[in-house]
Amino acid sequence: MTVTIVGSQLGDEGKGALVDLWGGAADVVARYQGGDNAGHTVVEGGDEYKLSLVPSGAVRGKVGVLGNGCVVNPRTLFEEIDTLRDRGLDPDVRVAERAHVIMPYHRRLDGIEEEAKSDSGVEVGTTGRGIGPTYEDKAGRRGVRVGDLLDTNVLRDRLEYVVPQKRALIEEVYGLAAGDECDVESLVEEYAAFGRRLREEGMTVNCSDFLYERRQAGDAVMFEGAQGTLIDIDHGSYPYVTSSNPTAGGAATGTGVGPTVTGRGEVVGIVKAYLSRVGEGPMPTELDGDEREERLADRIREKGGEFGTVTGRPRRIGWLDVPMLRHAARVSGFTGIAVNHVDVLADLDTVKLAAAYELDGDVIETIPATTEQWARCDPVLKEFEPWPAVDWTTVAEEGYDAMPTNAREYLDYVSGEVGAPVYAVGVGPDRAETIELVDPFEQ
Ligand code: IMP
Repeated sequence: MTVTIVGSQLGDEGKGALVDLWGGAADVVARYQGGDNAGHTVVEGGDEYKLSLVPSGAVRGKVGVLGNGCVVNPRTLFEEIDTLRDRGLDPDVRVAERAHVIMPYHRRLDGIEEEAKSDSGVEVGTTGRGIGPTYEDKAGRRGVRVGDLLDTNVLRDRLEYVVPQKRALIEEVYGLAAGDECDVESLVEEYAAFGRRLREEGMTVNCSDFLYERRQAGDAVMFEGAQGTLIDIDHGSYPYVTSSNPTAGGAATGTGVGPTVTGRGEVVGIVKAYLSRVGEGPMPTELDGDEREERLADRIREKGGEFGTVTGRPRRIGWLDVPMLRHAARVSGFTGIAVNHVDVLADLDTVKLAAAYELDGDVIETIPATTEQWARCDPVLKEFEPWPAVDWTTVAEEGYDAMPTNAREYLDYVSGEVGAPVYAVGVGPDRAETIELVDPFEQ
């Protein structure tokens, strides 16, 4: 049995809370894409852990896997593992030998390229973690994989080929000075040591085989998507995207588990009751039209804690965008949705969402394929009666029927439009503040 968790918007939908809630029934939690650009906070036994690479399940005694579709920065990986160990935990993390390694020159180039793009106002607003340049090298067949760290000769060969190219790019194309990130000897030394540690701790796996064997042994597997549908490299608002596939198809290619397996399981789209966006790109429902809207955005931002986990940047805020959710549901084939942060919208004068878009005089139901067209879309807004702030902890204890009626109407509308039932509703940051209607592992 597998459950795939997918962000249905722009990332930061609160996927971690559901991975937490349902991950309890999983034996293995596998990430299938992205790297340390993700940020999740796990609260366990009153302690808070901020992680960007280690799957949150690993804090809870599950096996955490970084699949072949991930890009792994070993510095971050071991920093996080060491911090968890210092705090008395013993996370069991396995890393796919086929996953690509984020090298120091990738991070450097991420920053340099963003800077160069910003001169012409086309920067993506990346997290600066070297994600894009690493996936570029993967597609360009000049990457370094985790398995290469295990053999110093192979590692050296790879670096001797690729590093002079990076140096030339930095020096000759961008006219900057290359530094330690382009020093083959020190890279071999540091990264071969990471390889030794990975081997000594038995952390590397052939991901496809590992998950096959675990499933044969009867283990339940959860696939934990990072980021979200609209920053998917194929299905997102290109070029304002990350360089991987957060959508459900990525779970198969990013771990080596067949799509017939993930497709027989559950695919749950995580939705935030409004929108937030870090970085550039269109956002038709953005609350930035006038001072009133900006004040409303500030209020939602503060109440929802909408500041980047990785970068600390304030997130842009907008109304829920249903065309976006229809697109997400079609791309990933949601069997259910979970809607978070419903409490954050309590006590407003009115609650709105975009039910459709208007583009060049036509009404359209999903997101157009080009970002330029998307930027020209005007939201067709639908208003809902507001719901009051209530004691959400009590509501969470009593269940869905205890939710304010107007909030339920809003959720029923969204579920109907997306064509998937509501599996859970988040009404607060605490684990106890998630109302569960359906446990996907029981489906
Ligand atoms: P990158 O993944 O660092 O290359 O950034 C590309 C785009 O994806 C930028 O707009 C980032 O802000 C966005 N992004 C990357 N990771 C996350 C995430 O975990 N949550 C929300 N946005 C993200």
